[in-house]
Amino acid sequence: MTIPTAPTLLTPDAILAGLRALRERQPVKYSAFYSSQLGGVVTDPALMVIPFDDHMVHRGHGIFDTAGIVNGRIYDLDAHLDRFVRSAERSNLALYGSREQMRDIIIKTTALSGRRDGSIRYWLSSGPGSLELSPAAGAEPGFFVMIFAGLAYPERWSTEGLKVMTTTFPIKPPLYAITKSTNYLPNVLMQMEAKQAGLDNGVFLDASGNVGESSNMNVAFVTADGVLRHPKFDHILSGCTSLRLLALAPALVKQGLVAGIEVCDIPSAQARAAREMMLIGSSIKVASIVEWDGARIGDGRPGGIAKALLALLDEDMRSGRDRLIDVPY
Ligand SMILES: Cc1ncc(COP(=O)(O)O)c(C=O)c1O
Repeated sequence: MTIPTAPTLLTPDAILAGLRALRERQPVKYSAFYSSQLGGVVTDPALMVIPFDDHMVHRGHGIFDTAGIVNGRIYDLDAHLDRFVRSAERSNLALYGSREQMRDIIIKTTALSGRRDGSIRYWLSSGPGSLELSPAAGAEPGFFVMIFAGLAYPERWSTEGLKVMTTTFPIKPPLYAITKSTNYLPNVLMQMEAKQAGLDNGVFLDASGNVGESSNMNVAFVTADGVLRHPKFDHILSGCTSLRLLALAPALVKQGLVAGIEVCDIPSAQARAAREMMLIGSSIKVASIVEWDGARIGDGRPGGIAKALLALLDEDMRSGRDRLIDVPY
């Protein structure tokens, strides 16, 4: 990193060259970006920019959500968009047009990207125009859509399972935990803390000692007597993947693999005696946790119910017709 001794005034051409050089130093897998502020879609990552005075940037007054692209189709977008609209309401953010208009822009940006597998992340912001706390007078909401490769996790997580720790950072109060705002500081600190300790991720406990969630994933358990147990959604994010799996899991009860399904408070002492513990989310899908705070979970190997849940999810992503949108490439 070169730090200029005396900053100089830049021309527009120099700025563009600087943005390009930034991306060359640090290659990214971003395929297309829609910006309501630019009025369209760009595919050059150097041009995927937001004004620094957008309130989402300097005050965190913005929300986001993510949906997956699987084999040229978008998976479960409507569930993610419903959560996006709920997050906007709780954050006192005006929508960019209607839900349907945003949905249409998401689908058309995906088509322009040409990407057939990856992720779509979209943000709503209160817009630029001041460095105040309240949005600037006349600020228009910003809507941004990024089509990218998706988050990459180590292969080991699916073959051997993950090791996690209880984070030392406090869980967000319920209102902020159920809102998918761009304030992810506790989540970021939790993940960094775990990595610095040589582990894979962290887990939040709530003030009563009940299990919350992980950095960008929900946490679920299989009890010693075979019950699939998930924390209540009143103090954690309503994970679209968890909700979908809870709806699909009765098939495992029918097959006799799972003894029952419960969404309830899970005291951490009870959780530690689980036969299986797993992370669930759009990016990780389903992955077993094999060690928590240095103690083995179950037999210390990825569990059978986590595998069965992953198979249900994979099947839904391939053929769940009511959950898939064909992208008009
Ligand atoms: C804090 C948090 N919890 C849980 C999840 C899992 O949600 P989903 O299944 O919708 O990806 C996410 C990811 O969006 C998250 O950020």
